[in-house]
Amino acid sequence: MSVSLFDKKFLFFGGKGGVGKTTMAAATAVRAADLNFRTLLVSTDPAHSVSDSLDQQIGGETYVEVKNVTNLWAIELDTEDAMRTYSDMVTQQDPSGTISEFLGGDDPSALSPPGADETVAFIQLLEYIQNPEYDIVVFDTAPTGHTLKLLQLPEMTQSWLYRLIKMRRRLGGMMTGFKTLFGGSSTPSEQEAFDKLEELRDQVEIARVHLSNAKETEFVAITIPNIMAIWETERLIRALFEVAFPISQIYINQVQPENPECTYCRARYASQQENLQTIKELYSDFDLLEVPLFEYEIRGIDRLRELSHLLYNKTN
Ligand SMILES: Nc1ncnc2c1ncn2[C@@H]1O[C@H](COP(=O)(O)OP(=O)(O)O)[C@@H](O)[C@H]1O
Ligand SMILES: [Mg+2]
Repeated sequence: MSVSLFDKKFLFFGGKGGVGKTTMAAATAVRAADLNFRTLLVSTDPAHSVSDSLDQQIGGETYVEVKNVTNLWAIELDTEDAMRTYSDMVTQQDPSGTISEFLGGDDPSALSPPGADETVAFIQLLEYIQNPEYDIVVFDTAPTGHTLKLLQLPEMTQSWLYRLIKMRRRLGGMMTGFKTLFGGSSTPSEQEAFDKLEELRDQVEIARVHLSNAKETEFVAITIPNIMAIWETERLIRALFEVAFPISQIYINQVQPENPECTYCRARYASQQENLQTIKELYSDFDLLEVPLFEYEIRGIDRLRELSHLLYNKTN
């Protein structure tokens, strides 16, 4: 491999469901921690399986110190819970309902940015992106569609926030005018709400800058050598290019080892080799890493560590 993942700060693992995202993310996080980097493993997949993979309870409340690995913490983000906090936040920012009335009357969705639950997940990501306590943050992401929406968000959220702020400014001026006329003044809570919006806009901008910087961020696409997975990988990679997200690595997981004794394995091996050839031709300028299909499920720290040695020992 020409790119060392451990020189980066933010590592995203993504791909189709069941290809091995959680397994690769967890093994990479174990390796980073074993290399003495303070590492945080964050799951943004609503179908959390980090607990299952590490074989210990993680949960979404706080960062949990992972047992049997020094330097590793993990968290499974609870998007639904965050959604509630988020709608509370929006209500707080618009206590009098002025903005929502202006934007869409009684329709509360006018206040929601596009892709509200991804936005929530993204706002949560900001916290991890800006947390200086960790050297490396590994993201175990949701299957392709969900993740793409998440990564397209900085731009979408930005423009939504700009609109909202502009609106507030205009309304704010109007309101102040009215209030001065009638002997009142802009309330501190309104000013606070406005400041919060501006702060959020700035944070989103910072995140966008970090996430599009190839020195800091890397997306690892996980795929398996079958045609449907290859198509999905192609869609994922194109979409990542569009949002200028750095991607140069593809792990091809569950590669059938050659086994002439077994008819079934031989047939699978032959068809996979053909697909591997296609992958190599399509992605000649990527770093490709083939990961064999293990005889057993890769679960628990010992097995993840074993996998991590196979993935990274030779280069790191
Ligand atoms: N190379 C492999 N060999 C054997 N089992 C694997 C391999 N990679 C992943 N698995 C197993 O496949 C299942 C799905 O992997 P997982 O990482 O949860 O996928 P995803 O997060 O993409 O849905 C898990 O039970 C995992 O242990
Ligand atoms: Mg998973």
